[in-house]
Amino acid sequence: MDGQEQSDAYAFADFAAPNAAFVERFLQLFPAFCCLGKRAESAVAVDLGCGPADIPIRLCRAVPRLRVLGVDASAAMIGHAQRAVRAAGLGERVTLREAYLPAELPGPFDAVVSNSLLHHLPDPSVLWDTIASQAAPGAPILVIDLFRPDSQDAARGIVEEYATGEPEVLRHDFFHSLCAAFTPEEVTGQLAAAGLAHLEVHAISDRHLAVWGTR
Ligand SMILES: C[S@@+](CC[C@H](N)C(=O)[O-])C[C@H]1O[C@@H](n2cnc3c(N)ncnc32)[C@H](O)[C@@H]1O
Repeated sequence: MDGQEQSDAYAFADFAAPNAAFVERFLQLFPAFCCLGKRAESAVAVDLGCGPADIPIRLCRAVPRLRVLGVDASAAMIGHAQRAVRAAGLGERVTLREAYLPAELPGPFDAVVSNSLLHHLPDPSVLWDTIASQAAPGAPILVIDLFRPDSQDAARGIVEEYATGEPEVLRHDFFHSLCAAFTPEEVTGQLAAAGLAHLEVHAISDRHLAVWGTR
């Protein structure tokens, strides 16, 4: 998603509901993270493939004093993220870094989140190895992504059901994202290979899977 047109279409699309649901799920799974106690002043989460930074902004609003590093490979997307963070008045708490994973990051982090990055990666181990190396012991981890339907026809059906009326560039991306995504069984294998077999993998809708647990 390094082109300006794709980044613009994504950044201007309305992902408020799924992004709010992502943060709600994180807080439900890890309620103690809301009340970080004496670690609150220094807690830093990382959002891998942060896009326009809506999830970092929502996390900061939900968890007082948390700071978030958003990492994304696309300069255009980081531009959108910078504008969103400024508009939210969170420039002191959300830092953005343009980096193509795998990349050196200033971890370990107190939490690792990632939404809709996995299916973009030619090598999925990049995400899991980054999490394994960047999450501090005990750090909450939440990854949500699409999962691949059984057939291209099923993928077309999902696009029709959930993206009717969306710009063609988004419908095109959605279809190809569904086809590029991994099944829950494949993700389970990827986790085992990365030494993260203890993380849970769940289908949470007809097209999304979630991976969660602690480091
Ligand atoms: C579908 S968007 C999701 C954005 C954001 N997480 C959200 O939920 O709104 C995927 C993002 O992953 C980024 N991305 C893809 N490959 C990447 C890589 N290897 N390293 C870092 N970011 C990457 C893209 O630039 C894009 O912004």
